[in-house]
Amino acid sequence: MSTPSRSGVFGSATDPKMLEFSESISQDHRLYQHDINGSIAHAQMLAKTGLITADDCKQIEHELRIIRQEIEQDEFVFVAAQEDIHMAIESRLVEKLGDIGRKLHTARSRNDQVSTDLRLWIREAIQTIDGQLTRLQSSFLKQAEQTKELVLPAYTHLQRAQPVLGAHYMLAYCEKFNRDRERLKNVNQRNNILPLGTGAVAGTSLPIDREIVRQKLGFDGVMANSLDASSDRDFVLDYCYGLSMIGVHLSGWAEEWILWSTVEFNFLQLPEAFCTCSSMMPQKINPDALELIRGKSARLIGHLTSLLTLIKGLPLAYNRDLQEDKNPLFDTYDTVFSCLEIAITVIEQSVWNREAIEHNLDQGYLDATTLMEYLILKGIPQRAAHHMVGTIVRKAMERGVSLQDLPLEVMQAVCQNLEDDVYKVLGTKNSIAAFQSQGSTGMLQVKDQIALWKKRLGVV
Ligand code: ARG
Repeated sequence: MSTPSRSGVFGSATDPKMLEFSESISQDHRLYQHDINGSIAHAQMLAKTGLITADDCKQIEHELRIIRQEIEQDEFVFVAAQEDIHMAIESRLVEKLGDIGRKLHTARSRNDQVSTDLRLWIREAIQTIDGQLTRLQSSFLKQAEQTKELVLPAYTHLQRAQPVLGAHYMLAYCEKFNRDRERLKNVNQRNNILPLGTGAVAGTSLPIDREIVRQKLGFDGVMANSLDASSDRDFVLDYCYGLSMIGVHLSGWAEEWILWSTVEFNFLQLPEAFCTCSSMMPQKINPDALELIRGKSARLIGHLTSLLTLIKGLPLAYNRDLQEDKNPLFDTYDTVFSCLEIAITVIEQSVWNREAIEHNLDQGYLDATTLMEYLILKGIPQRAAHHMVGTIVRKAMERGVSLQDLPLEVMQAVCQNLEDDVYKVLGTKNSIAAFQSQGSTGMLQVKDQIALWKKRLGVV
């Protein structure tokens, strides 16, 4: 037997070039734990259904656990000729147990095996990423606590729009990353269904019991169609989309803080430990950590695109093309994990330039919309009020002043309904105090939201 998977039908050995070309062990060795867990469950099922003896099963289980130790202690020799982690572990088992080891693959194909391993791996990866996302949310929440009073300009089209509380801004990200967590939970609902037992393509004539394996491995159901089970990687795509979305959310945030840390904005200082210097310009403190987070989202999108292209047009059922899912799958995880790790610390260690922010807050007419709403409450139709406030802003711009510095007569010349009480809503601070709708940046609303998030994230 030249390579473990070659049957007697072959008259010659595999070309060494082919061995090198077709190996995936350099990547899928990361599935070792899941492969061993899957094999143990499978062996136990084979014993329960009488396809192997209880003693065979005991020995298989015992040796698989030792193989796990060998891998973990770097004593396991991975050989490209064994193609993949599934063959590598099984070959080692056969080396140890001979014919007993040769029974493990009863009623199983690598096609249902690899899909099972991937699903187990993804289930665990989702759990880890969920933990990271919770930590990220807690970082934003900590910042929210510290910016309950800080007023920031909110932007649309990157133009100053309306004032918001710093805490409101931070909680926007708690929301986004919560949806990412929900999305991953949802991904796992479809992921956590067992393919093992569907064999290579059509099932098996042997009297297996898939329910036993389902229970042992903690799957929520068994895949109903053998052709479907081994042929698809839609669950890998779901997972990569879920993680790409995290990357895309992170990249928007990174872009914002890159801008905000510039001299032009001067809103915040990033932790120096996450900035780098220029080799030529000694004064530079560059926000490389955030730039890399922004840039790495491109990789994630690339992986997602390559997976879509990979499975497009594949006929049923298993095709070797599917092996190409490994790099996108693992690299997506590694990339998102490290981006989250960096983001968490950068968020916690960044410092707000409160005075500089406040100093410029009255620029950009952030209170114009509140003035318009004041006019609406005075009985002016919205479209008319919108036009009037535009005219008032124009007058203020011509004089180079903010709205609260305009004399009442100037404003009354535009709208007679305007009274002295208008000054109670003008100015950024007054303007922010006026917000009261659900989901707005109103003081009470934000306070409630902070309390809610503390509860959700278990912060006391
Ligand atoms: N390494 C393969 C993969 O990842 C495992 C399945 C191989 N099956 C086969 N019939 N060659 O897809």
